[in-house]
Amino acid sequence: MTDDRDLALALLRWQVEMGADEPIGDAPVNRLVAPPPKAAEPLAAAVAAAPRQATRAPQALPLQPVQESVSTARRIAQGCNSLDELREALSRFDLCPLRATATNLVFADGNPDSGLMFIGEAPGADEDRQGLPFVGASGKLLDRMLAAIGRDRTTAYITNTIFWRPPGNRTPTPLESELCVPFLERHIELVRPKMLVLLGKQAATVVLESAEGITRLRGKWKAYTRSGLDLPVMPTYHPAYLLRNAPAKREAWRDFLEVKNRLESTNSV
Ligand code: URA
Repeated sequence: MTDDRDLALALLRWQVEMGADEPIGDAPVNRLVAPPPKAAEPLAAAVAAAPRQATRAPQALPLQPVQESVSTARRIAQGCNSLDELREALSRFDLCPLRATATNLVFADGNPDSGLMFIGEAPGADEDRQGLPFVGASGKLLDRMLAAIGRDRTTAYITNTIFWRPPGNRTPTPLESELCVPFLERHIELVRPKMLVLLGKQAATVVLESAEGITRLRGKWKAYTRSGLDLPVMPTYHPAYLLRNAPAKREAWRDFLEVKNRLESTNSV
């Protein structure tokens, strides 16, 4: 009895984590029992009975829909000439499947003129509810890390690689990332910061186009050289990782000090 209950609870928990957090059927469905065989559908039967056409050589496929969607995203993003236009374009962009399950677009927070731009992964549940990046538990830690280098959201700008919450906080798929990249690139281009700080593996992978893990990348200066820009980039750990691995805070602190020192020594911000 307890086993069945535990199993049912584990299944429910799993569904919620996958993003299925709203019931939509009137009656529960027991998916552990095989469904009764379906009556033959008339259309399926007709198709099965129809004489087969001679096999034809496959025709050249049209441009893949994915590539088309990414090209559309790029065209839309490039057409934006201000942050307001970019935010507005994203709020109307419906080719990224994440938009359908998210409550709010999460665009950015902070001061775009601060010269210092932080890029995280993707909004979580709190961010999705409020429409602002890093307002949950990892956001609180990020605020403390900013304070440690004498900054806050009036002297830093914060965004993500993904603009809508992935259901259940799962890792964004390559397609979701690809569809957001043109907007992220345009975002960086429009903000024109003096320096980028990448929070975690997803941001480092997308922005640096690197397959290396964050443990190897963090703490070493890189460069962002797209769109005619040449910006210093500091990859570091994601605050959510630091919440789970307190000893890594020491390294993240070193990375933040690097950022502070470089900003001060170049007098850039
Ligand atoms: N984690 C992120 O990467 N971004 C947020 O906005 C919140 C949590």
